[in-house]
Amino acid sequence: MTNGPVPPQPLPVVARAPGKCIVFGEHAVVHGAPELAFALDLHTQVAVRPGASFSLNADPRAAEEHPYFRTALALRWSGGGPLEVRSTSRIPRGAGLGSSAAFCAALVAALGAAQGGVERSAIAQASYDVEKGAQGVGSPGDTTTVVAGGFVTVNGPGDTALWTIRGSERDWEVRRVVDPGWTWVVCHSGIPRATGDAVRSVTQRLRSPDGPALLADFARVATEGIHAVRASDRAGVAAAMHRNQELLRTVGVSHPRIEALLDAAAPEAEGAKLTGAGAGGSVVVLPKPGQETDLVRRLARAGGLPFVVVPAVEGVQLVSEPVP
Ligand code: PMV
Repeated sequence: MTNGPVPPQPLPVVARAPGKCIVFGEHAVVHGAPELAFALDLHTQVAVRPGASFSLNADPRAAEEHPYFRTALALRWSGGGPLEVRSTSRIPRGAGLGSSAAFCAALVAALGAAQGGVERSAIAQASYDVEKGAQGVGSPGDTTTVVAGGFVTVNGPGDTALWTIRGSERDWEVRRVVDPGWTWVVCHSGIPRATGDAVRSVTQRLRSPDGPALLADFARVATEGIHAVRASDRAGVAAAMHRNQELLRTVGVSHPRIEALLDAAAPEAEGAKLTGAGAGGSVVVLPKPGQETDLVRRLARAGGLPFVVVPAVEGVQLVSEPVP
């Protein structure tokens, strides 16, 4: 069940979590503005079993050196003995598509199952704590989306309340939005970037004199976009994506390769913008209906790595059999 607890299961435990795609509100969400994201049907799978010593993908140094693994063990594994963890993923890394959030959520869920089961809201809070602990900055948008599955808003309008995530400076309200049932295309530019650096530079930008007005614009555009998604209003969604991209450009997180992909997508796109932290990373496109294949061809010709995606209904969950 999408919003049910993760049940108890003795080791070995395998869990998997989807990636995520932010449609509206990245960066501004860090400062309390609304965000809309959906879980992607690309997954990370984490298998946990007792080991002779702690290791991740057979690397024993990871328990000290891999920030997410180290933080998850410190916060979520209380003295149950060393673990051998294996992680496999179809989510491109450093692409703004949630690979680190999916790793955190799948590992937290597996550790929770091995320690007597865990409520979904607790997985969402713990996954955020792990990601924030490892990354130093950020919102719970990514982790909460991959834990919940489907479409969610953070600090925005929605259909039902899911949970509240507590942060050191603010809390975030998470709500479910009904999936309008559309097909999307995401495309990785191939340009790697560090989320933390992009978040810190936008935070600086929002401290300038026009910062509060810009943040208000981000909030207004995201709210209009969320209302449009809830009304299945494609033209409204496309317009809000376009305005959101202009704001992201203004705060300096677009990139020439991102702009080239947006140009390449334009003839087959209703709406398009960068998704995630930007400064490289990926774009999300709402294709003209039926034009997905042509759109993918254009994006690939422009040098990107495109995927046709639909939202994953299920958030993080245990898998009884490892999925190859
Ligand atoms: O690019 P990603 O997947 O790391 O997404 C980051 C989204 C931000 O809003 C820029 C940061 C955050 O923590 O919400």
